[in-house]
Amino acid sequence: MANPLPPFTFFFLLFLLLATPSSTSSPTFPIPINSDRQSHLQFYIHDKISNPNATAIKVAADPNGSRASATGLHFGSIYVIDDPLTEGPDPNSKPLGRARGLYSVSSSDGSDLYFTVNVIFMYGIYNGSSVAIVGRDPIIEKVRELPVVGGTGIFRLARGFAFMKTHAFDTTTGDAVLFVEAYILHH
Ligand SMILES: *[C@@H]1O[C@H](CO)[C@@H](O)[C@H](O)[C@H]1NC(C)=O
Ligand SMILES: *[C@@H]1O[C@H](CO)[C@@H](O)[C@H](O)[C@H]1NC(C)=O
Ligand SMILES: *[C@@H]1O[C@H](CO)[C@@H](O)[C@H](O)[C@H]1NC(C)=O
Repeated sequence: MANPLPPFTFFFLLFLLLATPSSTSSPTFPIPINSDRQSHLQFYIHDKISNPNATAIKVAADPNGSRASATGLHFGSIYVIDDPLTEGPDPNSKPLGRARGLYSVSSSDGSDLYFTVNVIFMYGIYNGSSVAIVGRDPIIEKVRELPVVGGTGIFRLARGFAFMKTHAFDTTTGDAVLFVEAYILHH
């Protein structure tokens, strides 16, 4: 995927010219159909399964989890996450928010996740606004595309898509750093 943009920045294309923080204002109806704004978001998600301080917790698993899996993930497992979101791949880089929700292993060979996560921004004028990313995450593919299905605050009526890449993966612990690039239309 071509990416002419600086790799470790978090920014909103066009958005700064158009934005008015509106998360507490009442919507006006009808919503003008030509009012869509565009945002291009980039951030890293730190999915830490290992202890101490795991941010992804396995809450359910196949009681007979002996099934072979190329990925180490077992069909039927469910993880609940409260992962930090940062500007760069370093976990100590600028914090931008949290990715909260869950993913489940939804293919029998362990290669596909069903990913349903609210990305909550806690930064500047975006503080408190969120987008919902829901879809299929075939983790063995280099780039996955997931739907952005909605949002709150600045991202009301969001729709779009997100490209997700595994930036780093620790095969011993299962800890992962994900790079997400989202293209969103919103009100
Ligand atoms: C885990 O969290 C505690 C409390 O926030 C902190 O003191 C400790 O340094 C953390 N440990 C690691 C390995 O991050
Ligand atoms: C567990 O899986 C094995 C291998 O597929 C199977 O032989 C066994 O019957 C299963 N046990 C249960 C309790 O489902
Ligand atoms: C975000 O909003 C919360 C609640 O309104 C506030 O406590 C927090 O300090 C804000 N954080 C930033 C970085 O502005």
